[in-house]
Formats: sequence, structure tokens, C-alpha cells
Amino acid sequence: MSEQAALLNLPEPAEMRDWATENGILILAHSYQDGFLQEAAHFVGDSLELARQAAAADAKAICFCGVHFMAETAKILSPEAEVFIPDMAAGCSLADSCKAEDLIAYQEHLTTKLGKRPVTIAYVNCTAAVKAACDIICTSGNARQVVESIPGDQPILFVPDRHLGGWLNETLGRDMILWNGACEVHELFSVETLREQKAAHPGAIVISHPECPKPVRDESDHILGTAGMLKLVKASAGETFIIGTEANMIYRFEKEAPQNTYLPAPGASCACNLCPHMQRNTPEKLWAALHNRGPQVEVAPEHMDAARRSLERMLAII
Ligand code: 13P
Ligand code: SF4
Repeated sequence: MSEQAALLNLPEPAEMRDWATENGILILAHSYQDGFLQEAAHFVGDSLELARQAAAADAKAICFCGVHFMAETAKILSPEAEVFIPDMAAGCSLADSCKAEDLIAYQEHLTTKLGKRPVTIAYVNCTAAVKAACDIICTSGNARQVVESIPGDQPILFVPDRHLGGWLNETLGRDMILWNGACEVHELFSVETLREQKAAHPGAIVISHPECPKPVRDESDHILGTAGMLKLVKASAGETFIIGTEANMIYRFEKEAPQNTYLPAPGASCACNLCPHMQRNTPEKLWAALHNRGPQVEVAPEHMDAARRSLERMLAII
């Protein structure tokens, strides 16, 4: 029996998964969840893969190990399913930074100022109400293709992550108007300590998430979403990687690409960065959620159709 399951007096992750299967529940987990939850899941992925899984799922119930906006996305794409989350308070600083009413007021202001309504692209890390108020969604895995699908002469408002939006502007030569939101986890990487770490590990390859601020991106060899990172490390052998994203990602790398060495990029005041919201989901809460079939995530009926349209436009592109 694993130490964690024994200490918590819980079933092993595989036993939880089997129990969920027998009870008609599909467990989805984001790669930022801890190893136990990843092992308990039927499918582990990035935001895009999880949205695709939810859209394709014919499950009557989905237990989403991730944060609230991800579970909402699953509910929007699979409205007939009961969708629940181990901890209802698992939020996201990016989603919190963009309130739908503020977005709508800003869209109106820009329409008057520009004489033309901008296309609004929303990073998937936003509420259902924001998804309903935007034109199309993107994730870290398809953001470039989504932006490129919009004609170059069309003004674009990109919400809510200013770092991802800034990186897209830089690399695609666009001039999108950026909302002033940021991920509290990726903002905490420190460029000074990253430089020290690079000096201590000559030859190490730095991969960082586009949610990182520009000074950190500029010190990196590759800027990739979590699925892109996994693809790169699986295709490499004998390398040392410094990982500029949520540190639980390393669990997946070590499991699926053990031929390399992984070092978490340091935070401003700690050895690695963990998302406090993702960490709210624990093995105990997962086990309880499976039994309670809750707490359930609901989406306001008035946001359902418009939010699904924005997500489906994205899924049609890539
Ligand atoms: P991806 O899985 O799309 O890279 O997202 C990272 C993230 O911050 C999720 O909250
Ligand atoms: Fe939100 Fe950042 Fe946590 Fe992802 S890592 S859920 S963007 S706070």
C-alpha cells in the first residue's frame, strides 16, 4: 500500500478509479494536481485535452480534479452530465481578475473608441460568464492558432492574461489590446534566481509557460504550454530541464519521460511554485466527492449557449 493512502486510511488511487468506473463516474485531472490525484484519474491532461475529453465524454458524471473554471468548462461542453469538483473553493487568480460586467463595459468603451467592435479572445482560464461575453476561447496549447485565425486588420481584445497576450503579440507580430490579469503562480518565478540556477546547471534547458512574465520568458529556451512541455521532454533523452511552471507538472514528466532530470524553477521566496487553488483538491476530498456526487458545479442557464459557442469555435480550429 502506498504511504500516502495508508497514512490517510484511504483506498489506493487505482482502487478509487475502479470504484468511480463501477459507479459511472469519469475522473479528469489537470497535470497541476498532485501525484495521487493524477494516478486516480481516468485521464490527465492540459486545459485543451481536458476540454476535448469533456466534450467527447458520454459519462453521466464527471469528477473534475482541477479548478472551478475547468469544471465549468466540462459542464458547458457536457451539460447532461453531473459535474463535480473535490473542493468548490478551488479558484484561479486569472479567472478572478476579469469580471464579466467589467469586460462588457470595456468592450463597449473600445467599440466607441475604435469605431469598430474588437474581437474578444478569452484564455480558457476565465468564468463561464466571461466565456459567454467573448467571441472565441483559446488555451495555452492552441493560442497561436486561435489568434492567427483572426484577420490581421481586425482589432482584438485579449483577456485575461497579460503575459500570455504579450507573448502572443511579440511572437505573432500582433497588437492585441491586453487585459491586466496574471496568474499568481507564474508571476512568482524570479528571474534573478533563475539566472543563478542556470549558472549552477550549465547546459540545462529552461522551459517556461507563456503565463510567465517577459523577463522569465526571455531567460528561457522554450515557451510552451503544459502539453507542449510534455511533448518536448518525451522527445529528449539525458537532458536536464529547468521547469518554469507549476511544480506538480514534474510528477508527469518523471513518470512519462524518466530519461531526463527535472529541476523546478525557483519562486521568489521558495524552491518551487505550487498553485494554492489546485492544492485545495486532496485525496480525502476526492474520495468524499465521489461518494457524495458533489459538490456539483452549475453554470447559469443564461451563459450556457453563448459560452458553448465560444468554446466550440475554439475546438473547431484545433
Ligand atoms: P495549460 O494546461 O493549458 O498549460 O494551463 C496552465 C494553467 O495555468 C492551468 O491553470
Ligand atoms: Fe489559475 Fe495560475 Fe492556478 Fe492555473 S496555476 S489555476 S492560472 S492560479
